[in-house]
Amino acid sequence: MVCEKAHKHQKSQINKIMAKLVVGNLKMNLLSVVERERYLNLFRKEIEKKEFSRTEVCLCPPIIHLEVFKKELGEKIAIGAQNIFWEREGSFTGEISVAMVKNFGAEYVILGHSERRKYFGENNKTVNLKIQSALKTGMKPIACVGETIEEKKRNQTMMVITRQLKESLFEVNRTKAENITIAYEPVWAVGSDQVPTSNDIMSAKILIRKVLIELFEKKYAEEVRIIYGGSVSTQTVKETCLDPAMDGVLIGRESLTPYEFLKITEIINRPVAF
Ligand code: PGA
Repeated sequence: MVCEKAHKHQKSQINKIMAKLVVGNLKMNLLSVVERERYLNLFRKEIEKKEFSRTEVCLCPPIIHLEVFKKELGEKIAIGAQNIFWEREGSFTGEISVAMVKNFGAEYVILGHSERRKYFGENNKTVNLKIQSALKTGMKPIACVGETIEEKKRNQTMMVITRQLKESLFEVNRTKAENITIAYEPVWAVGSDQVPTSNDIMSAKILIRKVLIELFEKKYAEEVRIIYGGSVSTQTVKETCLDPAMDGVLIGRESLTPYEFLKITEIINRPVAF
């Protein structure tokens, strides 16, 4: 009995260490019940044929579809939100709290996405409040960092990422590190069909880990997953995720086509040959 328990524990530890994370960000799409049903039917049909033993899959639909996605796909995959407000409840017209998305089935939440920074005034301070609030509520934040094209041209990539990380993770409790994912998403690669080289992604990953070690100490910093996002497709997944040994990917456009999204997942799920 004790032995069996220990074995289960060990297995779950191995899974935790090895599992890559594939996140689909559906953004502001699926405009009606009909479109949602069509998407869910296709997704169910595609995922039925597949088994992912080394990969955790998460879909982040618009909030209005969260409950139905959880009900329809919740046994096979994790569900996430695309944003939250940091307060728990109260007079905040139009906002949705982390407690709400959690109670309606979300496990993950994308925070600080470049589109939110660009169009809705999101900044490192608000991302920090949201990360703190998500962790306190037992949710898993996926915090996005990455440079704009102007910052890249000025050779400021490393400086920008360091600052975003330090400010977004300010006073975050390191014992919660295992629930945090950092998504490196160069702003110029999102929605553009341009991707950085494997070397550039690898350099960003090394820097992110270094800053995490400074903030949390090595033992905790190593529990944080670092994933890549920005124009990931079946054609680019090898150079953006597999070659730089990322812990997963954040997929935008391609997640709108279940076949493509799960094809990318399949590639990531393959055992790495040494
Ligand atoms: P993309 O979007 O895959 O369409 O470039 C990525 C994202 O916004 O996270």
